[in-house]
Amino acid sequence: MQQKKGRRLILFPLPFQGHINPMLQLANILYSKGFSITIIHTKFNSPNPSNYPHFTFCSIQDGLSETEASTTDFVALISVLHVKCAAPFQDCLAKLLSNAEEKEEEPIACLITDASWFFTHDVAESLKLPRIVLRSLSVSSSLVYAALPVLSQKDSHDLEAPVPELPPLRMKDIPVIETLYQETLHQFAAEAINQMKASSGCIWNSVQELEQDSLAKFHREFPIPSFPIGPFHKYYPASASSLLSQDRICISRLDKQAPKSVIYVSFGSIAAIDETKFLEVAWGLANSKVPFLWVVRPGLVRGAEWIELLPRGFLEMLDGRGHIVKWAPQQEVLAHPATGAFWTHCGWNSTLESMCEGVPMICQPCHGEQMVIARYVSDVWKVGLHLERKLERGEVERAIRRVMVDAEGREMRNRAAILKEKLDLCTKQGSSSYQSLENLISYILSY
Ligand code: UDX
Repeated sequence: MQQKKGRRLILFPLPFQGHINPMLQLANILYSKGFSITIIHTKFNSPNPSNYPHFTFCSIQDGLSETEASTTDFVALISVLHVKCAAPFQDCLAKLLSNAEEKEEEPIACLITDASWFFTHDVAESLKLPRIVLRSLSVSSSLVYAALPVLSQKDSHDLEAPVPELPPLRMKDIPVIETLYQETLHQFAAEAINQMKASSGCIWNSVQELEQDSLAKFHREFPIPSFPIGPFHKYYPASASSLLSQDRICISRLDKQAPKSVIYVSFGSIAAIDETKFLEVAWGLANSKVPFLWVVRPGLVRGAEWIELLPRGFLEMLDGRGHIVKWAPQQEVLAHPATGAFWTHCGWNSTLESMCEGVPMICQPCHGEQMVIARYVSDVWKVGLHLERKLERGEVERAIRRVMVDAEGREMRNRAAILKEKLDLCTKQGSSSYQSLENLISYILSY
């Protein structure tokens, strides 16, 4: 922990696991550099303040009804949150600023919000507070969202066709989000990009060495300071901000397995699949004969509580080769010597966590920018295999064997090990992310 900087920072995460984790990790990083931290958060998906006794937490009323909070339409949920949180957020921020002034406490240097909380731009401006955004996606996927208005005008029926503006993407990699509110989605994407352009700067959970070309393109298109200071989890693990309790028994089970023998399977905190796909995953895993650890989050399978749709006796039939949990300590699982590959939905946090441990991936993007990340994993960084065909048990079985057993998998593993070494260095003194973090601190102190 560095000497106190005499400034307070106010952070406001978007209340979803894949966004809460990087924001709270960033809070810890900035705290360790001497800043005091206040977290404004919604009651919905609230982080647990007792895991962060060194921060101040301010909860705002989000006014979500039970029905609104339980919708699986992500766009509908974000839309309601934007409407209902604007006034409470404004009140809370105004109170924090006036308290700091009246009580002559340390001054508030700036607000750091998730880039998707675009309504905060006007609030910060009205209170004359600089607003820096945290973009928790990869730089390349953010550029794709920025290009969506142009891309969606294209009349391309050839999904294999390359996207000339965004190599190496093909038309089928352009983000698709299932929602009843497509128009709202496009407005949101455009608004988030506009308010990002108007912000005082952008922090990335990414690394210069991974996304050099995309960062250069970002600098050309967005005239704001940008700070790629990732991977955040190299500084602080995500476990303290986990919304679900992590099943630790899986670690002791991994302890009993041979090195690199287990495939870890997880599709993150939001994705949902139907019964047919769930059973194809299950049988693909079973038929591969490879030991597996599978996270089936309650809510993953549409219309099911948990794993009751598996055939009776499914796990017993595998004779201890398969283990299913509701939520895992993912970073520890990926760092475990027994873990040989990660079958992932390619959320950005999961992808970074896997690359940092040198674990090759099977990419099964479910929605949004995960398609973009999967293309980068398979075609740019070449540390994973992209499952592009229909999700079917024979295909799954072949993919698992290609990555876990075949020579192709060994080559991927070697490349993943080299990438891990590169990423190990990124946050060390003198390296790119370290330098970006120093720049960010000086920038904040200049306010
Ligand atoms: C979402 C989007 O899907 C993703 O594309 C976007 O980049 C961020 O928001 P999510 O689906 O949750 O995120 O995926 P991901 O970004 O991978 O984040 C999941 C986080 O939950 C990771 O930090 C992971 O370590 C953690 N996790 C996951 C667990 O702690 N335990 C688990 O069992 C599974």
